[in-house]
Amino acid sequence: MKYITLPIVLVIGLIMIGCSSVQVPVTPEKAPLPLEDRRASTETMEKWNDWKFGLFVHWGPWSQTEIGAIWKIVKTDTPEEREERFELYKTFDPVNFNPQEWAQVAKDAGMKYMVFTTKHHDGFCNFETAVTDFKITNPDCPHSRSANPDITGELVKAFRAEGMGIGHYYSHIDWYHPQGKYFSKRHWEYDESRIDSEPESWKKFVRFEKTQVQELMTQYGDIDIMWFDIRWPGSTRNDNGIHHRIKHPVVKEDVIDMVTMMRDIHPGLIINDRGVHSYGDFATPEQKIPKIAPEGYWETNMTVSDPNRRKAGGFWYKGPDALYKSQEELLRVMAEVFSKGGNFLLNVGPQPDGKIPAGEVAALKGIGDWLEINGEAVYGSKRSPLSTVPEWGFITRKANTLYLYVFNWPDKGDDITLNVSNKVLSASLLGSDHQINTERSETGISITLPGEKLHPVVSVLAVELEGSPVELMP
Ligand code: GLC
Repeated sequence: MKYITLPIVLVIGLIMIGCSSVQVPVTPEKAPLPLEDRRASTETMEKWNDWKFGLFVHWGPWSQTEIGAIWKIVKTDTPEEREERFELYKTFDPVNFNPQEWAQVAKDAGMKYMVFTTKHHDGFCNFETAVTDFKITNPDCPHSRSANPDITGELVKAFRAEGMGIGHYYSHIDWYHPQGKYFSKRHWEYDESRIDSEPESWKKFVRFEKTQVQELMTQYGDIDIMWFDIRWPGSTRNDNGIHHRIKHPVVKEDVIDMVTMMRDIHPGLIINDRGVHSYGDFATPEQKIPKIAPEGYWETNMTVSDPNRRKAGGFWYKGPDALYKSQEELLRVMAEVFSKGGNFLLNVGPQPDGKIPAGEVAALKGIGDWLEINGEAVYGSKRSPLSTVPEWGFITRKANTLYLYVFNWPDKGDDITLNVSNKVLSASLLGSDHQINTERSETGISITLPGEKLHPVVSVLAVELEGSPVELMP
């Protein structure tokens, strides 16, 4: 006994107290808030909503395939082809990867945040993790020999240095992990019954994901957004693509457990809805704009590549002959999203060598140039207060100023009408000194535009009204 030091005696004593039924008095603690009430604060969400425009990046060993359809792994690939897909990391050697360059491209595009694929459905981890070897730092992956192989960490540093918000994309489904495969019939159709018939297996999978999410929450400093993809089994989404309900009680408990852990680590974290449903903070319509603007916070994510054209859809690199959406299409989508109060997350699929394809850089730069002049109508703006969409374009709002995105520019001398009954305090065309004349009538405010468009696609008028906008019904 004489060798046992005081701390050890204390530890043993504490363990004994813990094991006995002796009740140690505890100071009363406040009951934890229900998880729904721990969602990101309005202030945090407004800050995010004011950012408006972010970069989405799908990148990793899969970028070497050029077929751009990761879902083939589970839908049509033969077992041999599948094996090959899971070997892709052994040739992943992005010698031209420069995270600062990516951050600059995003900055030049006028983007305020980025979301990067830390792990996609194939299960490969673009970050350092203790729970699988299927990761970027595996010695079999050539990139593991670069000075800073943790791609996620490098991107976080570079984008943060440019003052941008940081988001981690993370796929709930995982076709590589042994238990990840288990919860779907063919790896992509959910088989809920297995949560009950193979509960241990489900538990293992949840533990794996929870550990990885914890790593992502703790290894990279402050994180603004956790962007989950797809969902766990036992949950549904509605027709608008909005994830809304966790049906299975076990899954619900596991989700609550994981989200609680995340909120404990980062109280200011913003979480999307996929798989976490009402515990998340914003909805995520994909490749489309909801017909009717969702009431809460929301973000459309969309690719620069054109899903309606050959080889062009999907989120990953599309090869050298990929086709991209036009400036007109992208600016129209953005205007509509902003007029409905949403954020816009625009996706690029960098090349296997680490460069963002020139076509995508050019598309982003075009948007950046437009934002340079018209950013006032975008950042910090809110949804249109009007119930109808004017035939000439879209509207956003800041207090009593309405921003009119005029796509259908009238011929010289023609007017456009803003159907509100307010008096106009001032009207200007962003990026020009041109005098803008307005006139009130029964149908609203007539605005005379200069004959020449300032921008080939869309120019914006700022119309300051007296008082809150009052819509004139047609
Ligand atoms: C879809 C795709 C997935 C992609 C995601 C981005 O869910 O299937 O591969 O990462 O969209 O929103």
